[in-house]
Amino acid sequence: MALSKREQRLKFLGLTGRDVELLQALRPLVEAHRETLADGCCDQLESLAETADVLRTRSSRDRLKALFADYLLRITEGNFDENYFAERQRLGHMHERIGLQPRWYLLGYGQLFSAMIPLIRDHCAAAADETLAALQKIFMLDASLAVDAYIASDRYRRMQELESGINDSADAIFTVDAEKRFRSWNRAAEEVFGWKAEEIIGKPVQFIVPPDLLDAHELEQIDEQVAAHGHLHIETVRLTKDGRRVPVELSLSVLRDPQGDPIGRCAILRDITERKRLEEAKLQAERLAVVGAMSAKLAHEIRNPLSSVILNLDLVGDEAAALTEQEPAASAEMRILLSAIGSEVRRIQRVTEDYLQFAKMPRPRRELVALNDLLTNGMSFLQGSFDAAHVTVHREFDAALPPVLGDEAQLWQAILNLIRNAIEAMPTGGTLTLATSHETSRAFLRVTDTGKGMDPAAQQNLFKPFFSTKPSGTGLGLPLTQQVVAEHGGRIRCESTPDRGTSFLIELPIPDKHGTES
Ligand code: HEM
Repeated sequence: MALSKREQRLKFLGLTGRDVELLQALRPLVEAHRETLADGCCDQLESLAETADVLRTRSSRDRLKALFADYLLRITEGNFDENYFAERQRLGHMHERIGLQPRWYLLGYGQLFSAMIPLIRDHCAAAADETLAALQKIFMLDASLAVDAYIASDRYRRMQELESGINDSADAIFTVDAEKRFRSWNRAAEEVFGWKAEEIIGKPVQFIVPPDLLDAHELEQIDEQVAAHGHLHIETVRLTKDGRRVPVELSLSVLRDPQGDPIGRCAILRDITERKRLEEAKLQAERLAVVGAMSAKLAHEIRNPLSSVILNLDLVGDEAAALTEQEPAASAEMRILLSAIGSEVRRIQRVTEDYLQFAKMPRPRRELVALNDLLTNGMSFLQGSFDAAHVTVHREFDAALPPVLGDEAQLWQAILNLIRNAIEAMPTGGTLTLATSHETSRAFLRVTDTGKGMDPAAQQNLFKPFFSTKPSGTGLGLPLTQQVVAEHGGRIRCESTPDRGTSFLIELPIPDKHGTES
């Protein structure tokens, strides 16, 4: 049968039954001299700066003296079983924890041994050499066990330091094993993904990969890259517990065992939602600037000729009316054509006005605006449109909503665009809910319809100029709304589910009591 670690060590030391007998025979001698021996050891510890310091701050001379004396007696029991080994290990851990370097307790064993040599020589006569050899074996055994414990403690401490460093990291860090199942999951990962470590450990990595990327074989491509280069750095998207898509920067490296064989991977993930949002906002602002300049130019060029076309159309209309008596059939035909031309031309005029408004939007005025009142007033003019479209309106107003700072006309224009869209999204009627609320420094307005909703692609393009899901839309309504909200220091977000409806959330800053935005 294979020897246990304890037996191997005792065999290596060459500890025999005779050694044990000799140690047991030492008991009367140790009982008689343990105080003096322990005292000598304490003198030695007090004479050296580092050990004296440990002694002073961690214990007292009397206590340590008693501990040394007990230890010497313990050796003479001659029982070096599993318990004895466990006690020595614990001692090693304990000294490590109080910050005592191993060299000091190793020297301590040397010191005890030296102090016992003359005693043994005087009292053990013929067996002195054999007894000293037995004692030396035990001191060596104890010293080696203490060093083992120190090494184990040190490794453990380093691992804990590393673990706490990983846990406190602002980036999500996790490891997966060779089967791509999560093995560790830090606190930031819990925050980004919403999964607690205990929920996700053991689960396959596919849990956080969006299905479209799985279908596009992203994991296989990552495997190839990692196999070729040993690491990888990409921007991609991952999925949270509640199904949100989070844009992330992902760094992957291979984890290897001490033999260098791969055993898994370590991933560091940075949530770049905010960065992406800023990039998108910058891009949007650039797009809008170009659109604005172009629209101004175009609208300006078209506006004057258009006015004269409309004027002339009216004149031709009058002429057509005069013709009625002589040529009734031709006149009727002419009026049908003229009305068709008229409605098309007026459509061009509306579009042109939209462009102009977009391009020439003045800087917002800054006055205190009570959103609830603005909505109540504005909505009173729209009742006819709601009735015609079979739309029921729900108001959920926050009675304690503080005023926001802004331009009443522009804000209403922005909100009106949302309300119009909502009505159009419910061609067979539905419910429009306007809800206001606030937190310390932000006011919220939510405009929700129960209409046809939008697919993810339409949602992504929503605020891009000229993008419209409506056949006659200019695609400038929502960009305009977004621009107004942004100029007021706010944000707009959209949530939509096909066939369920759409909800726009406008968030605006509430000024502090000095009237500045907080
Ligand atoms: C020959 C080597 C040594 C042996 C056999 C030894 C033995 C012991 C034992 C048995 C304990 C009690 C552990 C327990 O809580 O169960 C202990 C505690 C302690 N040892 Fe050692 N020790 C040695 C070396 C040293 C050295 C060199 C110092 C340096 C000052 C030291 C300082 C301490 C201190 C401060 C404690 C804590 C005492 C307390 O609980 O108040 N030891 N030691």
